[in-house]
Amino acid sequence: MQPAHDLTLLGFGPHAYPMLVELAAACWKKSPEDLRVQVIHNLPVTPGALHGIMPEGWPQPSFTPMASWEPGEWDGVRMPGVLREPAVSLTWEAMRKAKGLKMEDLGVLVHPSAQVAPSAELGPGTWVQPHATVATMSKLGPCCYVNRQASVGHHNNWGAFSRINPGAHTAGSVVLGERVTIGMGALVREGTKVESGAIIGAGSLVLKDVMEGQTVMGVPAVPRPSKLAS
Ligand SMILES: CC(C)(COP(=O)(O)OP(=O)(O)OC[C@H]1O[C@@H](n2cnc3c(N)ncnc32)[C@H](O)[C@@H]1OP(=O)(O)O)[C@@H](O)C(=O)NCCC(=O)NCCS
Repeated sequence: MQPAHDLTLLGFGPHAYPMLVELAAACWKKSPEDLRVQVIHNLPVTPGALHGIMPEGWPQPSFTPMASWEPGEWDGVRMPGVLREPAVSLTWEAMRKAKGLKMEDLGVLVHPSAQVAPSAELGPGTWVQPHATVATMSKLGPCCYVNRQASVGHHNNWGAFSRINPGAHTAGSVVLGERVTIGMGALVREGTKVESGAIIGAGSLVLKDVMEGQTVMGVPAVPRPSKLAS
C-alpha cells in the first residue's frame, strides 16, 4: 500500500521543517513541492505559524496532535524533529513511550552531496546535511545530526542525540556521550572524550576532555557556565 505521507516529522520546531523537507527531497530525488509531509506535535502549532518560514507554494504539512496520532504504515519515513537538546530527546522519549515506537522505526537521511564512508555506521533517526563528511569506521548512535559542511573524523563513537553544527570538525577517535552539541565551526582534537549533555561553544578549540553537562568555549576551550546548559 502507498503510504499517505512521504515524511513524518516526530516533534516540533517549525524553523527546521523546510530544511528537513529539502533534505528528504534531495535524498529521494524529488521536488519539495511533491512531498507529502506530516508533523506530529504536542504544541498548538498551526499551518499559520509557518508563514514566512516555509517557501511560498510548498504544500503545507498536515499537523496531527500527538494524542490523536496512531503510528501506521501510512506514515512513510519517520524522523525525529531536529531541535536544540535536550528538547528533542525528551520529545522523542514521550512519543516512544506513548506510542510504543522503537528506534528501529526511524529512518536515516543523508544528503547526496554528503560523504559517509562505507565503513561508518549511522544510527536510526540520523540526519546528515549537504557537504558533511563522516569518516572511516565512525559510529554515530541514534538520532544524531551532522549539519552542513561539518566533518566527523575517523573512529569516532557518538551517543544518541549528539549533534555537530555547521562547519565544525571532530578529529579521529573522538568519543561523544549522549546529547552533546558541538557549536558551529568548533574543532575537537583527536582522542578527546566529551561526556553526555556537554555543549561546545561556536568556534572553540577543544584540547581536553569535557565533563558531563559542562559548557566549554574559547581557544583553547575552557569550562564556563552557560544559561543554555541542561
Ligand atoms: C557557548 C554558548 C552555548 C553560550 O551561550 P550562552 O550561555 O547564551 O552565552 P552568552 O551569549 O550569554 O555569553 C556568555 C559569555 O560567554 C561568551 N561566549 C559565548 N559564546 C562563546 C563562544 N562560542 N566562544 C567564546 N566565548 C563565548 C560571551 O562573550 C559572554 O562573555 P562575557 O560574559 O565575558 O561577556 C553559545 O554562545 C554558542 O556558541 N552556541 C553554539 C551556537 C551554534 O552552533 N549555533 C548553530 C546552530 S545550527
